[in-house]
Amino acid sequence: MSIPAKFRKTSAVHPTALRRWAASILIMLSALVPASLVAATPSSSSPVSVLVFGGSGQLGSLVVRAALAEGHKVSVFARESSNMQRLQGLPVTVIRGDVREATDVERALKSQSFDIVVDALGRSESGVEFYEQAARHITRAAAATGVKHLIHHGSVGVAESRAAYPPNRFPERSPLFVSKGAAEKLVRDSGITYTIIRNAVLRPLPAGQEDRAQLLEDPLTFGAVSREGVARLTVQCFRDPRCTNRTFHAIDAGIQYQ
Ligand SMILES: NC(=O)c1ccc[n+]([C@@H]2O[C@H](COP(=O)([O-])OP(=O)(O)OC[C@H]3O[C@@H](n4cnc5c(N)ncnc54)[C@H](OP(=O)(O)O)[C@@H]3O)[C@@H](O)[C@H]2O)c1
Repeated sequence: MSIPAKFRKTSAVHPTALRRWAASILIMLSALVPASLVAATPSSSSPVSVLVFGGSGQLGSLVVRAALAEGHKVSVFARESSNMQRLQGLPVTVIRGDVREATDVERALKSQSFDIVVDALGRSESGVEFYEQAARHITRAAAATGVKHLIHHGSVGVAESRAAYPPNRFPERSPLFVSKGAAEKLVRDSGITYTIIRNAVLRPLPAGQEDRAQLLEDPLTFGAVSREGVARLTVQCFRDPRCTNRTFHAIDAGIQYQ
């Protein structure tokens, strides 16, 4: 694609003109990839304030790192007992609490104004009802405190994506998917702008392999994806309008899931 002539003739291109030209290219690109967010999708440069539930975990800590790398202001909700090793030395604000306690979640959301909340929780020692309970507490407190965007990490196998899940493995996970389905419903019904990112199988990115994770809207998408890729896509969604009120499946075609 060539640079428009009006921006080409001088070496001192005005920054506003350059931004407009970049914006027009982004609009053209977004028209080409309406249903998927690929690695090249840029995110806005304006920093946001984000609270990450599960920020000390494997996926959550990578979301924290990806958000910090983009210049965002990051807070992490974690228990007194949480292992904070993965966040050591990072400039984050830690808010202590247990997501199963509604008052802990309310206190966290009221501690400052958050633009974005990310739910990257795993249930640790809790039963499967954890996911619905956590989502109930988070959606209530986020709606009450004016959070602008809620990004919820879910699982393939929930609701209409059941058809994508291997039938022989579905029955044992069915109670988990019921709870995760209820959590997704709470998110959709919260009135907050949301993005749901489901994954099926989380695998390490093989050494030396390029991250090619993408978000697809086809609910039959099933495959592996790296936590690094999911974290990158999560942060790209902070300011990408294509993530508004959408449910995606994250997948990296370059990673085997078996
Ligand atoms: N592994 C897979 O292949 C796979 C596949 C599909 C979907 N997923 C989903 O992906 C998500 C993230 O997975 P992950 O492997 O990154 O999880 P993880 O490493 O187990 O992290 C879970 C996080 O949630 C926190 N947490 C648990 N109970 C809490 C509580 N009561 N209050 C506050 N924080 C609590 C944990 O902190 P503590 O240290 O305090 O427990 C930790 O920070 C999960 O929803 C998982 O179900 C995983």
